[in-house]
Amino acid sequence: MEFMNTVLIIGSGGREHALLKALLRSDRPLCMYAYPGNPGMERDGCTIVDKVADWAELADWVEANEIDLTVVGPEIPLVEGIVDIFNRRGRCIFGPTKAAARIEGSKAFAKNLMKKYEIPTAPFEVFTEKKKALDYLSRRGAPVVVKVSGLAAGKGAMVCDTMAAAKEAMADIFDKKSFGEAGAQVVLEEKLTGEEASVFVLTDGRNYKVLPVAQDHKAIFDGDRGPNTGGMGAYAPAPLVDHAMLKRIESEIVVPTLRAMEQENARYRGLLYCGIMVTDEGPKVVEFNCRFGDPETQAVLPLVECDWYEVFAACAAGRLDEIGDIGWTVRPGYCVDVVLASKGYPGAYEKGKMISGLDEAEHSKSNRDVYHSGTALDPEGRFITNGGRVVGVSAWAETLADAIGIAYEGVAKIDFQGKTFRKDIGAKGLARLKKAKIQQPV
Ligand code: AMP
Ligand code: GLY
Repeated sequence: MEFMNTVLIIGSGGREHALLKALLRSDRPLCMYAYPGNPGMERDGCTIVDKVADWAELADWVEANEIDLTVVGPEIPLVEGIVDIFNRRGRCIFGPTKAAARIEGSKAFAKNLMKKYEIPTAPFEVFTEKKKALDYLSRRGAPVVVKVSGLAAGKGAMVCDTMAAAKEAMADIFDKKSFGEAGAQVVLEEKLTGEEASVFVLTDGRNYKVLPVAQDHKAIFDGDRGPNTGGMGAYAPAPLVDHAMLKRIESEIVVPTLRAMEQENARYRGLLYCGIMVTDEGPKVVEFNCRFGDPETQAVLPLVECDWYEVFAACAAGRLDEIGDIGWTVRPGYCVDVVLASKGYPGAYEKGKMISGLDEAEHSKSNRDVYHSGTALDPEGRFITNGGRVVGVSAWAETLADAIGIAYEGVAKIDFQGKTFRKDIGAKGLARLKKAKIQQPV
């Protein structure tokens, strides 16, 4: 019998479901586990690991079951130091150490790193006292971006166009303590103008590979209106970042950041998510994340054909250079992921609504996938809604227009009470492609 490698995926969202499907696409026989996983992952053959008390207990389980590779999806285990725990036990795990995960876990750390190593980002100051922050604010004026330094589930950055809004944000952080310990340090920074892109860098700390660049759609409503969510859809590659811009991002941001982390004794292994604002002055870092983005991953991974097991293991072992370009193919074309959310999200929403059409959406086209994020099974084994973001539908095709069309055709097949989605995922890319064509000399 062929030797089976065993893999544990940590996390339970659409991102983790996409990681699972990507791992299973290679010819390598894999035995997959997830913690805590979701019912969609379970249906795709993942065994769900029983609840553990902490990461050390999960490491016990990994040891006992001789898991070859662990892939971490979300930021919290990384910031808490799961990689250090696994490394001490000699277990192979994909993700940055606790020290390296500070790049997301502490915005103060990330901003100071960028300042020290001259990596382009918005000018800023860090504060721990409200009075000093207000003094700075009255000198600087609005617009300004107020950010809590610690993890805040994507809700920690407030773009304030007026002084009143900035003061309210400050009151939230310092007086109401709405962000708890995450708000102990506050970053005030200049508001950048431009369009955003998500640049994913797979790295062993020295060697790296850049994945197709994606654009997220953070706001709940079409046209980027309404409150921010975890992300309502994504597409890749984004024409916003052309070849020349990507080279600038690599030389001005990616390479200096990896070097800086090594200099700070925090060599970065894993996935470095560079949130980039493309401004008139060039690319600038809006944020770093220490993990794959959700939902960008669902639009990026289907475009890359490789043995993901080997790539993740090589990053973890510091030998990404050995992968070369053999077995790493970026498909031509585009991928679009549309998120279906529960009514009310990102505010309060109801759960437990029956979901129909999942199989038809997934299986009626070979270039379309469905990723679960907030689903559960009812006692009869039927899928019901169980989260704000419920499922994502991804499609890939030669043209962006076709990918959008096929994704939305899948979206139409799925139904549940209160189904909410944006109708303009990828539209920014289409508009840019159209403009570029018109501008081309005839
Ligand atoms: P962050 O928590 O740093 O990822 O920020 C969340 C979102 O806030 C970003 O994706 C941007 O849309 C917005 N944002 C953050 N910082 C800035 C900035 N300096 N200028 C403009 N928008 C920003
Ligand atoms: N989609 C944004 C994030 O994953 O942080």
